[in-house]
Amino acid sequence: MAKIKTVYVCQNCGAEAAKWIGRCPSCGEWNTYVEEISEKLSNSAKPSARSTEAKPHLLSEIKGETEKRIDTLNNELNRILGGGLVPGTVVLLGGEPGIGKSTLALQIAMKLPNLKPLYISGEESMLQIKLRAERISKSKSDIHILCETSYEKILHYLRELEPGIVIIDSIQTLFTDLIESSPGSVSQVRECAAGLLKFAKETATPVFLIGHITKEGSLAGPKVLEHIVDTVLQFEGDQNHVYRILRASKNRFGATSELGIFEMQNSGLREVLNPSEILINHHEEDFSGIAIAATIDGIRPFLIETQALVSTAAYGTPQRSSTGFDTRRLNMLLAVLEKRAGFRLAVKDVFLNIAGGIKVTDPAIDLAVVAAILSSGTDIPLGSEICFSGEIGLSGEVRPVNRIEQRISEAEKLGFKKIVISSAHKKSINESKYKIEILFTAKIEALVKILFKGNYRSN
Ligand code: TYD
Ligand code: MG
Repeated sequence: MAKIKTVYVCQNCGAEAAKWIGRCPSCGEWNTYVEEISEKLSNSAKPSARSTEAKPHLLSEIKGETEKRIDTLNNELNRILGGGLVPGTVVLLGGEPGIGKSTLALQIAMKLPNLKPLYISGEESMLQIKLRAERISKSKSDIHILCETSYEKILHYLRELEPGIVIIDSIQTLFTDLIESSPGSVSQVRECAAGLLKFAKETATPVFLIGHITKEGSLAGPKVLEHIVDTVLQFEGDQNHVYRILRASKNRFGATSELGIFEMQNSGLREVLNPSEILINHHEEDFSGIAIAATIDGIRPFLIETQALVSTAAYGTPQRSSTGFDTRRLNMLLAVLEKRAGFRLAVKDVFLNIAGGIKVTDPAIDLAVVAAILSSGTDIPLGSEICFSGEIGLSGEVRPVNRIEQRISEAEKLGFKKIVISSAHKKSINESKYKIEILFTAKIEALVKILFKGNYRSN
């Protein structure tokens, strides 16, 4: 027998080295090298392409078989995937523990009983899965469940059962006999994923791989996993809130700009088709410190409530804290406000919260953040009829944002009477098209005038 060959593999990025190194030269992480047995890896790890003749062809000669997509009967998921599931796709579904990955996967499987789904779990018992299934769906939808972690046995059942859709929960629990390192290690994950990819391509069966996420928020295991699969979906959200966002960070068969919103209910995940309506609280009376932002995530517009609280600092150093919004950006906006609007924020505590536990990275939320802070600082409510969309620059200028027409339309659709945007949009927008009143502002000083009509005194 040949001598067992071992390599050292970085558990963070999958880089290999012949001997142990303290710091990975590829990703810069410390202490990530682990000795793994690399026997047989070289031959089997490479997924073979579908049995096409490897001969050069002209683009025009390639027959454009219109790929038939499988309707997952889940509008949000279909959209994220780019219009349904392409046969033979391998989808990696990542997310923090408890976010609802298993629930989503089981729900997808149970909606498609005639596709003969096979749900393979290495994490839960049959009974646990049955209980979950009963919770999710009252209808008697029969699907195959397999509790197994051995890759070889799984492959055996895949060949025997010939399922139409496969779900692996989770890829980190699988192990193959070909490699001796423990389940969850880079080479195990890579080898099993490559094998499943081969199965998916050969049989044109879509495969969902559920993957864990590390503390830092990236998919656990090697980056190579993300390279192997066709689509990477990330399931995000705050566990203390009911809303979950599913977005594609890689998609070979569609755009990555789409996102889907789900609500975790007692009976599983519900698709949220009109996100704006749930992300705005409808208050009976007007409160100060609340401003609505017309944001866009991917290509989907939604209106979101930003709440600010400005109060006198009880201790020496004022506190600045924000949930759902970058704290550094908040500090920047506060500095701009101080300088441009004469607002003495250096002695104030400022708290900012984006409703619904959602993280917003769209810079167009700046204007609403500033408006909410001004409103809380002066204790003057802004009313529920106005919303905002604009980025703020360091000199206090209000900058234009992309897809402004889509934002205005969404605001109008939701019954807002006024929207404040950058005056840079003035030329490009046909105001008469909209019923909503459009207020243009070039800088923060002008925003203060719009909001408080001169009743405002800086304190
Ligand atoms: P789960 O799918 O097990 O998460 P993951 O696989 O990502 O670790 O989801 C677990 C959470 O979802 C758990 O805290 C309970 C909650 N949940 C509901 O609120 N409603 C439901 O119908 C189900 C099945 C789970
Ligand atoms: Mg799970």
